[in-house]
Amino acid sequence: MSKIGIFGGTFNPIHNGHIEIARRAKEQFGLCKVIFLTSGNPPHKQNTQILDAKIRHIMVKRAISGIDGFEPCDWEIKRSEPSYTRDALLYFKEIFPKDELFFIIGGDSLRDFDKWYKPQEILKLCTILVYDRKGGTVTSEFAKQVYGGKIDISSSEIRENVKNGLNISDKLPEEVYKFIERNEIYGYVPGFEAKLQTMLTPERFLHSLGVRDMAKELAKIFGADEKKAEIAGLLHDNAKNMSDIYSRCADLEVELDEFEKENPKLVHAPLGAETAKCIFGITDADIINAIRWHTVGRPDMSLLEKIVFVADLTEKGRKFPDAEEIRKIAKKDIDRAVYECVKATVSVNKGRGIAIHPNATKIITKFEKNFK
Ligand SMILES: [Fe+2]
Ligand SMILES: [Fe+2]
Repeated sequence: MSKIGIFGGTFNPIHNGHIEIARRAKEQFGLCKVIFLTSGNPPHKQNTQILDAKIRHIMVKRAISGIDGFEPCDWEIKRSEPSYTRDALLYFKEIFPKDELFFIIGGDSLRDFDKWYKPQEILKLCTILVYDRKGGTVTSEFAKQVYGGKIDISSSEIRENVKNGLNISDKLPEEVYKFIERNEIYGYVPGFEAKLQTMLTPERFLHSLGVRDMAKELAKIFGADEKKAEIAGLLHDNAKNMSDIYSRCADLEVELDEFEKENPKLVHAPLGAETAKCIFGITDADIINAIRWHTVGRPDMSLLEKIVFVADLTEKGRKFPDAEEIRKIAKKDIDRAVYECVKATVSVNKGRGIAIHPNATKIITKFEKNFK
């Protein structure tokens, strides 16, 4: 039987204090390993305080890479439903049926432990180790062991310092510090427009404003969330003028399909979905997907995805031959507009000898029986 530590947290971002808490737990209680369990996105809507889970987890992986006995776990961020500590412990109990589980938490979290989901069951599944950051102030009937020492680093302080341009390098593992700097995470974004303007050419910025307005108008007509449509429309091309796109994709673990790997012009969509998380703090999955799929679309797009896809081609600055006609259709029938946009793109690309993305063919097949 081994002793396994589980250290759950938002890790927004992970910092040297977390590493120290885990290191001391491992040492003092003879744990064979400590599993860092990154929490998922909060279930409520767009919250700019919490960075998207995937990006937080990339930082966790970087922070603990190479440290003996530390392991990252993405179980919670991959779940679609919100999960409780008790669910996570049941999951680990299944994987490690013969081992003893230790759950590591901070003293502040322990204060309302009795309000957690099924606290008695949690106590049966694991031993709780409480880290007391201030040293000797935590007493608890729930905690088997209280350990600690002074650690005065907090994630919220790090985020504040980044916004204010203060140095944070001594509070973070080097790889995390570099990652935050490179990807402009936690930067102060006074208004999305002002920041976006610094990232795009003047023409591309004007186009983005046009897509924002058109997406908002379409959202109003079809009963989608207007705010989300505005944000997704505005940010859809945020990565369009970035230079080092492939190295950024590697850094942010962007998944490209075979076609996108061959066609650099398409990369700004999947990359833009990730940079929107970093630079603008977006966590809403629907907004992220609307950015991700705005170039090639996909057969089962959400209403918001369709709106941004169509708005991209029908904003007021677009002047191609069928633009006005499709603009009219867009305001009446969004599916038909998706179909017409794909057909228009395919015909332009064929004329230029550009290959057609398989999703375009799938969308046409899906809709043509209705609209042909
Ligand atoms: Fe685009
Ligand atoms: Fe665009």
